Amino acid sequence: MQGEGSVKHMADIKIVIIVAVSENGVIGRDGDMPWKLSTDLKRFKALSMGKPLVMGRKTFESVGSKPLPGRPHIIISRSQCFDMPGVETAESLEKALDRGRAIAEETGVDEVCVVGGGEIYRQALPLADLLHVTHVETVVDGDTFFPPIDADVFEQLEETAVPAGEKDNYPTRYAIYRRRRV
Ligand SMILES: NC(=O)c1ccc[n+]([C@@H]2O[C@H](COP(=O)([O-])OP(=O)(O)OC[C@H]3O[C@@H](n4cnc5c(N)ncnc54)[C@H](OP(=O)(O)O)[C@@H]3O)[C@@H](O)[C@H]2O)c1
Repeated sequence: MQGEGSVKHMADIKIVIIVAVSENGVIGRDGDMPWKLSTDLKRFKALSMGKPLVMGRKTFESVGSKPLPGRPHIIISRSQCFDMPGVETAESLEKALDRGRAIAEETGVDEVCVVGGGEIYRQALPLADLLHVTHVETVVDGDTFFPPIDADVFEQLEETAVPAGEKDNYPTRYAIYRRRRV
């Protein structure tokens, strides 16, 4: 039986953005990420495991149109025809987040993870409670961007320097930001 303390209510469920971004704001190029960061993929997996993932249709295609194991997926598309096995579809960000919160409540987790791409991050940033940002220590060319993080809106909680491992193109700084209470 679930203890009372572990029951999640909609109001307690946080909207969390997870992103990796270069020094010049790039997150993507030609429908893919402009780097290989194996260490960061492991962190992404650990952070998101068991939680509902909300993502744009293009990001879903960029990961091979297959759901990542162990995480319910909600894919946002305006197309009525978008329908892929193993994932749910929502026709707006708001509907995707509502569905994510409902799944989180049903499954007893306290976060819905918004995982890109550029279009979805831009719309979700004003709604996010927490940002898990991997600052990739490089300047790269790209066509997809993350908006600047406004220090008046988000306070940085912690930051960890992560040297480039054998399977990482660049060193990173992993930072957590929380929406300031007004
Ligand atoms: N560095 C990172 O952490 C990271 C993370 C994720 C992705 N990425 C990169 O980001 C790039 C993809 O980002 P993107 O901006 O091109 O695409 P995206 O945000 O992944 O998806 C865009 C699509 O989402 C749907 N959409 C967006 N807003 C909507 C709304 N309000 N209502 C309904 N549907 C909506 C539309 O789908 P339809 O066209 O089907 O209507 C739109 O074409 C790739 O390069 C990927 O590798 C990077």
